[in-house]
Amino acid sequence: MRRRELLWLPAAAWAAPPANYNESRVPEYTLPDPLVFANGQRVRTAADWSRRRAEILEQFRSQMFGRHPGPPRRVTHEVLAADPTALAGKAIRKQVRVQIEDKVPMDLLLYLPAGAGRPVPVFLGLNFQGNHAVHPDPGILLSDRWMRPNAPGVENNRATEASRGAAATRWPVELILSRGYGLATIYYGDIDPDFDDGFQNGVHPLYYAAGQTRPGPDQWGSIAAWAWGLSRALDYLEQDPQVDAKRVAVLGHSRLGKTSLWAAAEDTRFALAISNNSGCGGAALSRRAYGETVERINTVFPHWFCANFKRYNGREAELPFDQHMLIALIAPRPGYVASAQEDLWADPLGEFLSAKHASPVYRLLGKDGCGATAMPPIHQPVMTTVGYHVRAGKHDLTRYDWERYLDFADRQMK
Ligand code: GCU
Repeated sequence: MRRRELLWLPAAAWAAPPANYNESRVPEYTLPDPLVFANGQRVRTAADWSRRRAEILEQFRSQMFGRHPGPPRRVTHEVLAADPTALAGKAIRKQVRVQIEDKVPMDLLLYLPAGAGRPVPVFLGLNFQGNHAVHPDPGILLSDRWMRPNAPGVENNRATEASRGAAATRWPVELILSRGYGLATIYYGDIDPDFDDGFQNGVHPLYYAAGQTRPGPDQWGSIAAWAWGLSRALDYLEQDPQVDAKRVAVLGHSRLGKTSLWAAAEDTRFALAISNNSGCGGAALSRRAYGETVERINTVFPHWFCANFKRYNGREAELPFDQHMLIALIAPRPGYVASAQEDLWADPLGEFLSAKHASPVYRLLGKDGCGATAMPPIHQPVMTTVGYHVRAGKHDLTRYDWERYLDFADRQMK
C-alpha cells in the first residue's frame, strides 16, 4: 500500500494485527451449511429453501449490512439531458435525476446502443469518481458532489474538468454497447458520501424516527444504503421503455462489489449479479481471515456495516453465516465472482470458495452452481450459473473482466 493511502487511517487501524498472507496460518474452520436451518433441520425442497433463504437474509440484515427502511415514500424522475446521437451516433445518452424524498438527488447516467429497436438488457453499477469519470464524453454532466481526495482532477473534494474520463479504463462503454447492452451508472457518493460522519449526510437521515440521530445497531450502514440506491435506479429502469428491466445485471468493484452482491440479495428483481474483486465483506469467506479481516474492515471503515457486525471482530467463527451464503441468496439467478491474482488483500481463494460452497443451493434449485471444484488457473473462466475467474494483475476492473461478464450475460441472460 502506498504511504499516501495509509496516512488517513484511524489510529485504531495501526494497532490491528498484521494481515495474514500465509495459507498455513489460515485458521481451521467449519462453514455454516446453507441447507440446514438454524434449528438443525435439513432443507430438502425448493419450498424449504425459500424459508431458509428468509432466515439467512434476516441474519445478514441484522448482523452485517443492516436493515434498509423499505422503498421511499416519494421519488421523482427528472430527465436532465438526453442525446440520441451521443458517442458519434453509437449511443443514446440519458441523464436522469432520481430525487429521493424531495431531498437527496441521485443522478443516473444511461448509455443505450443506438438503433436497437427494442428494449435492451443493461449493466448497472455504481462508480467511485462521478459519472463524468467513466468516459471522456463531454456531454456527461460534471458532478458537483463531495469526492474522495487523491483522485485525478479532484480539488478540495470536488471534481474538476480534469477528472473527465479518469476512470474510463474501468468502463469500456463502446464495447458494452457493441455487444447489445446498455450501461447505467451512478456516483456512489450521491447516495451516501463514503466517510464516517455518524450518518448525518446521504440518505440515512431521511428515515430517522423522531429524535433519532444515527441508525440503530441493526439498521443500514453505507453499503446497505448504496445497495438500496441501486434498487432505486432499477425502479427508474423499470419505467424506461428502452430498457429491458427483467434483464438488469448489477455489477460492482471492490467495496461496490460487496454492494452489488448485497443489492442482488435484497432485491430479487436483479437478474444477475457480478462481484469484481469484492474481498472481505463481499465474496471472500470471513472465516479464512486471510488478507483483510472483519476486525480490520470494521476499524478502518466503521460506517460500511451495521454496528452489530463489530461483535464479530476477531470472532469470525461466531458468525451465523459466511459469505458463501451471500452468494446463495442470489440463487437461482446467475452470479459471477472475479478475483485478481495479485489482489491478496481480497483473498482470491476465499472468493472462489464462496462461489463453490454456494453451489449446493443452486443444485437444489435445479441449476449447476459453480462448475469448478478447485480454484481454476488464471484466465480460465468458469461460465456455469455461478461464474468465476481469476485474472493476472492487481485489484482493478479491467477490459478483460468486462469481456468475461459480457460472455456470461450472453449465456445466462439472453
Ligand atoms: C480497501 C478496503 C476493501 C475495499 C477496497 C475498495 O482496500 O480494505 O475492503 O474493497 O478498499 O473498495 O477499493
